[in-house]
Amino acid sequence: MFEKLGAMPQDAILKVIEDYSADKRSNKIDLGVGVYRDETGATPILSSVKKAERKLLESQTTKSYLGSSGDPDFNQQMQHLVFGSKSGSGDRITTLQTPGGSGSLRIAAGIVLRTGSASAIWTGSPTWANHVPLLGSAGIEIKSYPYYDAESKTLQFDDMLGALQAVPAGDIVLLHGCCHNPTGLDLSEQQWREVSDVIAQRGIVPFIDIAYQGFASGIQIDNFGVRHLFDAVPEMLVASSCSKNFALYRDRVGALSVVSKDAKTAQIVRSQANNIVRTMYSMPPDHGGAVVKLILADAALRSEWESEVESMRLRLRSMRERLGGAMRELTPDHDFSHFERGNGMFSFVGVTPEQVERLKTEFAVYMVASSRINIAGITNNNVDHLAQSIAAVL
Ligand SMILES: Cc1ncc(COP(=O)(O)O)c(C=O)c1O
Repeated sequence: MFEKLGAMPQDAILKVIEDYSADKRSNKIDLGVGVYRDETGATPILSSVKKAERKLLESQTTKSYLGSSGDPDFNQQMQHLVFGSKSGSGDRITTLQTPGGSGSLRIAAGIVLRTGSASAIWTGSPTWANHVPLLGSAGIEIKSYPYYDAESKTLQFDDMLGALQAVPAGDIVLLHGCCHNPTGLDLSEQQWREVSDVIAQRGIVPFIDIAYQGFASGIQIDNFGVRHLFDAVPEMLVASSCSKNFALYRDRVGALSVVSKDAKTAQIVRSQANNIVRTMYSMPPDHGGAVVKLILADAALRSEWESEVESMRLRLRSMRERLGGAMRELTPDHDFSHFERGNGMFSFVGVTPEQVERLKTEFAVYMVASSRINIAGITNNNVDHLAQSIAAVL
């Protein structure tokens, strides 16, 4: 029977990884895959994570099953991290441990589908390449609203607001909590307020994906959108990930929080979520979540983790400034200020697929065809080569 299957097209990022690995040039630069890298190009295990893992090894007494919603202490810690001062408010929020942010997004879409009251989930254009397949695979229609204008390399904020005014009541609007992937351009606090007003007026249900908390302006600031919307609407969904800010990528750590009108409804949502999990993967993996729980609950580990996140954030900021500055000098007639206006790991360069191909073949600079780059692939050593290469293909 398996011969009846057709092969799926290769993932665009995997192709970049393969081509990059095969390239023998010593000045090659990989700006494709979305993991944080330090100045040496490594994606290290955080020191706070290593210490928590050692502690866990000594103290853990059982590997027996947990429930479908994972470890209750982890869930409480994550709710606190993501909702800040709003967490625990009247038990309206229910939080479940999930396999990464991806698991959280998928379970959220499953819950939305079961309510039968949303006709679609609306995602910004563009959005993270996996949003549409991941959310759509739950069986719900995915529609889009304008977000980024490639020509001016700015947010299409008025168009976005206009489109949201036409979203039917009860539909879901997906927003990036911070460090928008792929554009790097986030809503300002004022823009969050305006979006939130429209969402509240129209009876839309916001769905915030926050996968980079701490990488934009700081751990306690980057959840502004979550905190603001919590006060503005009766219901919302929040998918969070520990892949980047704890560098726990392969350990698959994330959480889904659902805000309901009241505590009773929150319990019903939880039972539905547990049922979806039970019929998909039964329960989330424990190890990474146990590590996160230890770090967030221990003052010394938490403070070390916070400074590790801060140094990742500052390195990304510094690389954005170096690339932006170099482009200003090399190509004064072009506007590359979006590198500096952006937050987090991603920006578009803003060149064509043909120019992306030239960057690869002539300059050993690797990125996906859309020209989205991972800022963490830039170092003090390669930034000049990168800027000169971009300038050369313009
Ligand atoms: C916007 C966004 N959401 C969610 C995720 C999910 O990450 P993970 O499933 O690895 O936690 C990512 C990962 O790249 C992302 O960029």
